[in-house]
Amino acid sequence: MNKIVIFFSHAGDNYAVGNIEVGNTKIVADYISELTGADQYEIVTHKYDGMAYNPLIKLAQEEANAGELPPYEGQAPDLSQYDTVFIGGPVWWGTYPQVMFTLFKDIDLAGKTVVPFTTHEGSGLANCVSDVKKAFPQATVTGAFSIYGHEVRSGKAKVEKWINSVVK
Ligand SMILES: Cc1cc2nc3c(=O)[nH]c(=O)nc-3n(C[C@H](O)[C@H](O)[C@H](O)COP(=O)(O)O)c2cc1C
Repeated sequence: MNKIVIFFSHAGDNYAVGNIEVGNTKIVADYISELTGADQYEIVTHKYDGMAYNPLIKLAQEEANAGELPPYEGQAPDLSQYDTVFIGGPVWWGTYPQVMFTLFKDIDLAGKTVVPFTTHEGSGLANCVSDVKKAFPQATVTGAFSIYGHEVRSGKAKVEKWINSVVK
């Protein structure tokens, strides 16, 4: 089984954890790769670089309300060799950040197993699973997982328990 983790994660000023050098979701993505050997594709935008938490919250809300699709850096990944695709990001206003939906439009996951995960500060999976199902109606979406952002640095065991339950 070939696996890849597709994720977005925002380093910098954030809720509950202060100004972080490595984003919460990236830490979980790295645990997944370490535990399963999965490759990684990071969705990158420089749109939010250096922003303080409050202006970022406001901008993200505007983007979500408008259904904006901000561009990502570089090319979409070639996913032809993968059968399992982990998709992870922070919850921003109840779902994944809009830039993730920009990438979703550019990839085809038909016939693949898709495992969504989030880091969050209270919303859990929020609408992420249903939004992933909507984006990829021909994928098998299963095994979703969420973890508090402030918990990830001491949360490897939790991630491992989940991984063991989804990866046979
Ligand atoms: C713009 C923005 C919006 C957020 N909205 C939510 C939310 O709706 N629900 C929630 O539980 N947490 C929310 N959070 C908290 C993040 O989901 C949480 O801190 C997450 O772990 C950040 O992951 P990252 O460091 O990988 O970007 C928000 C954070 C930001 C910056």
